[in-house]
Amino acid sequence: MDASPSSKLIIAIDGPAGAGKSTIASRLARKLGYVNLESGAMYRALALKAIEWDVSFDDEAALRKLAEGARIVLEPTIGGNRVLLDGKDVSARIRDRDVTEAASRVSVHPAVRAWMVARQQEMGKDGGVVMEGRDIGTEVFPHADLKIFLDADPVVREQRRLDQNRIKGPPPQSIAAELRERDLRDRTRAASPLVAAADAVMIDSTNLAEDDVLRRIEELAEAKVGAG
Ligand code: CDP
Repeated sequence: MDASPSSKLIIAIDGPAGAGKSTIASRLARKLGYVNLESGAMYRALALKAIEWDVSFDDEAALRKLAEGARIVLEPTIGGNRVLLDGKDVSARIRDRDVTEAASRVSVHPAVRAWMVARQQEMGKDGGVVMEGRDIGTEVFPHADLKIFLDADPVVREQRRLDQNRIKGPPPQSIAAELRERDLRDRTRAASPLVAAADAVMIDSTNLAEDDVLRRIEELAEAKVGAG
């Protein structure tokens, strides 16, 4: 599909960890000639800064200040986002387990979220973007052209995460437990919990191949471009 500049959509992909958002969002963006922005990487970068500066994950005001003073840059590349924190490439470091856990803790605070949402809105406002996260269709772009909520059975999501982490080799039970805990925190937090927007298209990827999910979303995007 070849989207013309005048039909550059905002596409929101939300869902829990391990549902396949990042891979799908990056492949979709490549196909459409859009940029893929991983909003989670911004929470991860802030979490890393909190670790480095020894700021408590529970101190909302201090975390907001830390965010305001941080330069967090997402550079879309073919394989996902390159993430710069204050000029330093932290793309690999932010995927570590301690940062993953910290990201889900710093992201519960409304003042932190408000700062992140404003940055994300600036980044995507001109369209031609696939933004993925937890609250893109509900908070960041409630008027997105296309909203997808990508989910999968928890056991399958855990298995996918295990496969991704195989090289580093942490114990499987702890990866699964951490994912469940993070899931629960994301779904039950007071500010912008992980929930599908009322007008999101629900896709359950439990029994779907990645190519099938991609094709389905592409069809939906094509229909939107055609309608616009
Ligand atoms: O890749 P994975 O789905 O495991 O995580 P991520 O998308 O990088 O997000 C890391 C954490 O950031 C999540 O567990 C959420 O707590 C938080 N997050 C959020 O609150 N809102 C977003 N839009 C994106 C991520």
